[in-house]
Amino acid sequence: MYSFELDESPVRKIVIAGNWKMFKTQAESQEFLQGFLPTLEDTPQDREVVLCVPFTDLNLLSKSLHGSRVQLGAQNVHWEDSGAYTGEISGPMLQEIGVRYVIVGHSERRQYFGETDETVNLRLKAAQRHGLTPILCVGETKQQRDAGETESLIISQLETDLVNIDQGNLVIAYEPIWAIGTGDTCEASEANRVIGVIRKQLKNPDVPIQYGGSVKPNNIDEIMAQPEIDGVLVGGASLEPASFARIVNYK
Ligand code: PGA
Repeated sequence: MYSFELDESPVRKIVIAGNWKMFKTQAESQEFLQGFLPTLEDTPQDREVVLCVPFTDLNLLSKSLHGSRVQLGAQNVHWEDSGAYTGEISGPMLQEIGVRYVIVGHSERRQYFGETDETVNLRLKAAQRHGLTPILCVGETKQQRDAGETESLIISQLETDLVNIDQGNLVIAYEPIWAIGTGDTCEASEANRVIGVIRKQLKNPDVPIQYGGSVKPNNIDEIMAQPEIDGVLVGGASLEPASFARIVNYK
């Protein structure tokens, strides 16, 4: 007699996203793609590759990435569909040009542009309303970590950020602020632990949860070997074709 066991381990999506921040003109973006796209030939199909680029690059990249396996992402979205909001971009504008993902609540938005958990929640809802998958960023400062507030801070961010959010169309990025752009990576095992804490707060345990903060070619394999970590959000190391290629093609 044979016995069949159903494998019930979750199949969570792997999402590797580059966050170009305020880097790259259109010409520079094309130069990047020339070096980067050929490196994806042997990338396993189950890895979703995303580039979150400046607004001015979106239209061109939407065309350049057509037929490639790279998905296009933006770095912010306003909560209204249109209106007198100088300097903002709306969901319909992003959707029209083929944007699939949008970063919401990045710590640089929270820190320099007054983003709060309330506005993050509104932006998340707008993204989902227009068929975009938001990448919600949460994470603590060095001061909050030293004061032992990491868990409580992240739980409180999630409580407000996720009100009335569809957890079937969401990616979360755990980004300890002290590890962003500093070269000071969070230990992979510690990132894994905090991501486990985040997962416990969710209604849908299959939401992909990324780690972000000084992800580099030399630490990606260790990070992706962690059981709770479903991908990475990469700033500086996504700007060079070779380094982002090494990250996407982690072992
Ligand atoms: P970093 O940025 O990889 O340059 O640390 C990560 C981020 O801000 O998403």
